[in-house]
Amino acid sequence: MRNALLPLAMLIACADDPPTAPPAPPAAPEAPEAPEASPTSDTTALASRANAVFKPLPTWMGDKASADMVALGRQLYYEKRLSKNHDISCNSCHQLDAFGQDGEPTSPGHKGQRGGRNSPTSLNAALHIAQFWDGRAEDVEAQAKGPILNPIEMAIADEATAVAIIASIPGYAPMFTAAYGDDQVTYDRMADAIGAFERGLVTPSPVDAFLKGDASALDAEQIAGMETYMDVGCTTCHNGVGVGGAGYFKLGMVQPYETKDAGRFDVTGLESDRFVFKAPSLRNITQTGPYLHDGSITDLSEVVRIMGKHQLGRELDGAQVGGIVAFLGALEGKLDAEYAKEPATLASGPATPKPDPS
Ligand code: HEC
Ligand code: HEC
Repeated sequence: MRNALLPLAMLIACADDPPTAPPAPPAAPEAPEAPEASPTSDTTALASRANAVFKPLPTWMGDKASADMVALGRQLYYEKRLSKNHDISCNSCHQLDAFGQDGEPTSPGHKGQRGGRNSPTSLNAALHIAQFWDGRAEDVEAQAKGPILNPIEMAIADEATAVAIIASIPGYAPMFTAAYGDDQVTYDRMADAIGAFERGLVTPSPVDAFLKGDASALDAEQIAGMETYMDVGCTTCHNGVGVGGAGYFKLGMVQPYETKDAGRFDVTGLESDRFVFKAPSLRNITQTGPYLHDGSITDLSEVVRIMGKHQLGRELDGAQVGGIVAFLGALEGKLDAEYAKEPATLASGPATPKPDPS
């Protein structure tokens, strides 16, 4: 009984007391509801309006995976020997201690080569309807197969080579056995495990707390900004649990926007998909610049203005932009540091290839 009550008491203490307050006395089972920050009826109405277009983040995205699959995926996510010169891992471009990206307009891969697109964050990415700016990979598992073999990213020659590298590192065998029942290394299993790890990269934010009923989770400016965001129509494209990541739209929907990248046209070949991109998730957006598919814009306020003009046909004024940016700041959340922590590198075996800078 005592044990059952203790976590509840701690929860209540966390929610209502400043961090320095002494621990709250154990709560009685029928303790009255924790006092609310007395939301105005306006805030309550806004919360239900917001709940109609957004959704709180789950603690896990998609199908459950075993802890052993996650552990294997974590090891592979940080595995630099999956790159030709042993200098690049998934974490190089999607740094888990830097909001799942690298802060670069485009990312240096093998021999410092750069592609034409900005690295999106890997955080909360498993929520998206598909992966990449143009949605060309179905899910995080399918996506994980791409960068290892991409000549300007990790530059491994082929799937068999990637499998042989992992199989040559003795410490992986017990991890594959724990995750999949036997120690056979396959490219599918590698991608599957990396995907499993990514499905736990969630960052619950103040907006999630607000959606769940904590009216005090957002300050007045963020609340006003949320209202503006919904009023002007950003929710047409950036909505749902990811606050984006749920659909494809033309960049330059109302007013043409100049870009050389044909976007989803290159995936489907449909003329109607020219300059169409996945509307990105706006979770942690204040931390994941530079922005747009080409990383061409560094200032978030400018992106918001561009969106107003080119996607909505509106000139947003300074107060509207400021409010929206404040709201976007409330979408910033924390990754569980323990979950994301880099594991110790496993020792190479005699057959493990040496780094190849060529
Ligand atoms: C050299 C940098 C680089 C490396 C290494 C890299 N990525 Fe990426 N990643 C990118 C870029 C650039 C894109 C966007 C490409 C595009 O859309 O065409 C991307 C896209 C993604 C996405 C899609 C996110 C979204 O919002 O659509 C995920 C997930 C992802 N990478 C995970 C990984 C994983 C897992 C690895 C390791 C197996 C990895 N990346 C290795 C640069 C990198
Ligand atoms: C008609 C659909 C649509 C509307 C409306 C829209 N957006 Fe977007 N938004 C997109 C698409 C598509 C992209 C990706 C563009 C690209 O880089 O190619 C994007 C990109 C962004 C980005 C950059 C994301 C990143 O990771 O670089 C931000 C920030 C953003 N939108 C915010 C907003 C805000 C704020 C509003 C309302 C003022 C808004 N958007 C309205 C479709 C839309």
